[in-house]
Amino acid sequence: MAYTLVLGDVSIAVGWDDLFAVALLVSVAAIARNARAARGAAESGRAANETHSDPLGKQDNAPKALRYGDDQSSPSWHATGPGYLPDPDPLHRFDLQSATVRDYVYVNKTLRYPYFQTMSHQPMHINHWIEIDKDYQWYLDEKARVIREQGKHVIDSLPENDDACTELLESLVDYLPKRYPTLFELVTTEKQPYYGILNKVTGERFTDVQSLRGVDALLVVSRLVQDDFLMARERDDGKMYFVGGLIVFPGSYLLSEKINKPLHEVHSSVPHINKMMMSIERTMARFAPDRPFERSSWWIADDRQLFWHNIVSGSVPEDLHPKDLFLRIDHQTFRKLPRTKGIVFGVHPVLQRIGDLANSPLVPALLAKIHTDADSELMDYKKTEKYAARLLPYLQELTQDQIARGVLRAEDVDDVAKFRERAATTAGGDIGGGREETMV
Ligand code: HEM
Repeated sequence: MAYTLVLGDVSIAVGWDDLFAVALLVSVAAIARNARAARGAAESGRAANETHSDPLGKQDNAPKALRYGDDQSSPSWHATGPGYLPDPDPLHRFDLQSATVRDYVYVNKTLRYPYFQTMSHQPMHINHWIEIDKDYQWYLDEKARVIREQGKHVIDSLPENDDACTELLESLVDYLPKRYPTLFELVTTEKQPYYGILNKVTGERFTDVQSLRGVDALLVVSRLVQDDFLMARERDDGKMYFVGGLIVFPGSYLLSEKINKPLHEVHSSVPHINKMMMSIERTMARFAPDRPFERSSWWIADDRQLFWHNIVSGSVPEDLHPKDLFLRIDHQTFRKLPRTKGIVFGVHPVLQRIGDLANSPLVPALLAKIHTDADSELMDYKKTEKYAARLLPYLQELTQDQIARGVLRAEDVDDVAKFRERAATTAGGDIGGGREETMV
């Protein structure tokens, strides 16, 4: 017997054979779906054992069209779908005493050769939004001190941004207990599942977070994470404006100088930014809540004063050995808040002593080459004239030492762009252990 299917203007005669074939196809699809689900479950078991160290980020081998980042072993990497932002994977065995952030020398194309000013942004895995390390308490204490001393220079919000501050805080209250269950606990009531948060490290408990707006919400944020947050929003003129934030560790500028300005003015001191501004604005305008991204920037500092480094307004002390200069890398994360449409730009600065790069193959040679070959305007922005004469001979010394120790072959020294491969393949190379010291 045959049946007739009518699809719009088209009629199709269907026999038992056809129906059997369709049933077979549906069964095969169901088997494939179940197999995928089983694979996902196995991977979620793996993620539960994840440590907090993913130094290389495997980005070079990663496929181009990434949605959430490069860590394919994580279940949230697979949780795709329109508008869907997955929960972070929990770090059940997170140990604050020994925790390190990813090594930003290697992730996010922070250091690269040739070195030009580029957007160099990457899709961000949600696991990497907030990273916490063993210096957590130091950052929080330092933040409290700077906020006390600097007030509105480092923490402020225009009225149009106040609701976004609440949403940022709510996002953290949701995220932190999920990602770091050993450090944070969600405080719930019968009516409000996200009523508050307990910080188990500091013992502080923050409740009724939804009632906190503007600076009041940002003050709580400053007691939860090491990151600063710059906040932007699109106004009716179609331009993106800097509308507030918590910028306690800028190093070289003040929030109070930038607030209420459009992005092109905010970036006016950045060399070659005009060439990138259109792309930046386009990226910001099209930015969707389920497409967070990250980038990093670097410069050299001469102390641990994350709020304002001495090198910015003074000169490097005569007796400071170049090994005690710091490579400052700012891990920058970008998220669009779905409810208020605010843009939050997180910044987590991390310092690495230059002397600690001794075991990172090719990295001293790479840093030296960037300094000697990159565009001078870009290097001036990084204040190289204040330290380069002292740093460059020391970097050379580190490179020669790497050759002498067999960490590097003399013929590879010019091939600095291969520093990631060298780290992965060199025995004795120190891939992830960049920051040996604690900040205190
Ligand atoms: C939320 C939107 C943004 C805000 C509020 C913002 C703000 C800032 C500020 C305050 C600075 C320091 C300027 C100075 O030295 O005086 C800066 C630097 C810079 N920004 Fe942005 N920015 C935003 C988005 C972006 C985006 C999307 C990109 C590119 C993907 C970008 C690229 C840069 C670059 C290249 C610099 C120079 C330092 C570095 O290499 O990071 N910015 N930004």
